[in-house]
Amino acid sequence: MLFKKSIPTLIAEAAESGEGTLKRTLSSGGLIALGVGAIIGAGLFSLTGIAAAENAGPAVTLSFMVAAIGCAFAGLCYAEFAAMIPVAGSAYTYSYATLGEFVAWIIGWDLVLEYALGAATVASSWSQYFNQLLLVFEIHLPESLLHGPWEGGIVNIPAIVIVCLLSLLLIRGTQESSLVNNILVVVKVAVVLVFIALGWSFINPLNHDPFIPVNEGEELVKSGQLGFFEFFKSDYFGHFGISGIMRGAGVVFFAFIGFDAVSTAAQEAKNPQKGMPIGIIGSLLICTLLYVLFSYVMTGLENYTKYAGDAKPVATAFAQTGYTFLNTALIIAILTGYTSVILVMLLGQSRVFYTMSKDGLLPAFFSDLSKNQTPWKTNVVFMIFVSIFAGFVPVSDLGHMVSIGTLFAFVLVCIGIMVLRKTDPNIPRPFRTPLVPLVPILGIVVCIAMMASLPIESWERLAIWMAVGIVIYFAYGKQHSKIRAEVEKGKSSGPTL
Ligand code: ALA
Repeated sequence: MLFKKSIPTLIAEAAESGEGTLKRTLSSGGLIALGVGAIIGAGLFSLTGIAAAENAGPAVTLSFMVAAIGCAFAGLCYAEFAAMIPVAGSAYTYSYATLGEFVAWIIGWDLVLEYALGAATVASSWSQYFNQLLLVFEIHLPESLLHGPWEGGIVNIPAIVIVCLLSLLLIRGTQESSLVNNILVVVKVAVVLVFIALGWSFINPLNHDPFIPVNEGEELVKSGQLGFFEFFKSDYFGHFGISGIMRGAGVVFFAFIGFDAVSTAAQEAKNPQKGMPIGIIGSLLICTLLYVLFSYVMTGLENYTKYAGDAKPVATAFAQTGYTFLNTALIIAILTGYTSVILVMLLGQSRVFYTMSKDGLLPAFFSDLSKNQTPWKTNVVFMIFVSIFAGFVPVSDLGHMVSIGTLFAFVLVCIGIMVLRKTDPNIPRPFRTPLVPLVPILGIVVCIAMMASLPIESWERLAIWMAVGIVIYFAYGKQHSKIRAEVEKGKSSGPTL
């Protein structure tokens, strides 16, 4: 279980090219676009309103900053790994090199929650905005075809259609997908900028006052009338005040998920040593700046209380400007935003399974490449898997699973950085995480704190998903692991304990 992949082997694998390998087509700019493509989506356009109305008020802007700081710790660790081991598998590969095969399997299996279910979550919300667009053209889809059975419908058809279309695009080729993604990213970043620029002059300062709405529970704690633990367990916690900013950060964390997807494409980067840190940190920085400005304008246009239960808060905010004729364009741009998130998530998922299959932990089927050098069979499997979840499972349940799965991966990546600095201090590191071990430790603390704020059911589902993964590992992966076979033949350095 502690068989490890040696870093030189990984670097050699990453350097392979030609028939049967992924093509190196992505520049640093393409990687940033990939990151931004995966990041800006349902989190910004749907959750900002919810977090403002229920948790933080106008201080949702601060929630975005807190979540960004948490992600930055993990992002810096990802950047060191991705530049040092530029192989397609992201956190899965990093754990294979540091914590051994079993943990690597666990993390690869866990990444399905982030990427595949992430795509399903965003596809599921995509269909709500798509319906808005159809209504503009007076096309009415029956409600039962817009929601799954747990939300009063039958199946979410538009969600399934978008997942299938984007999977087919990925099968066509990475370069084509990257081109489409770049266009989508330009459109969605443009709309965020237009929203900020047009909305700025319509900000009503009264809507930002008070900036941090009072939490009565916090006042009671300050005056000694309520103990801290009683407060923590009470309904006061997380509803405005400082605790509301923190809970809001947990909610809007979803909006940052995706920066790590850049690392799944390391094997397709032209110059990964330089491109990976630029792609990961660059996309995180750009999105943080946009989120802070966007949420500031949004809570300035309309009072935060008005966003309670609002499924399209951006349109509500925009209605306060004099530019309501741009509403349809806004819906289209939001749809493009969602689309690029789904695309990159599907891409990331297929690359993780590709790599796991190359290592023998999954059947060879998953790493078969088409003549366009895309792992098309994996794309087809996930087209079906993601469609089922997007079509039938409630969006909030999906979202929580994505957050918990992603945070778990971040924790393991932070641990991995500390381990590798000890076990292999001399490997060339084109990018070094600053202040190790402080940064990874802070990353772990923040991620665990955010995991703790998620509902208990997400923990139970995480445990079930992992249990299934462990059974598959012992039934298949352990028997077929290539590293293990090499070690047993005496070709490799052997298990490390
Ligand atoms: N960060 C992505 C989104 O907000 C997952 O849609």
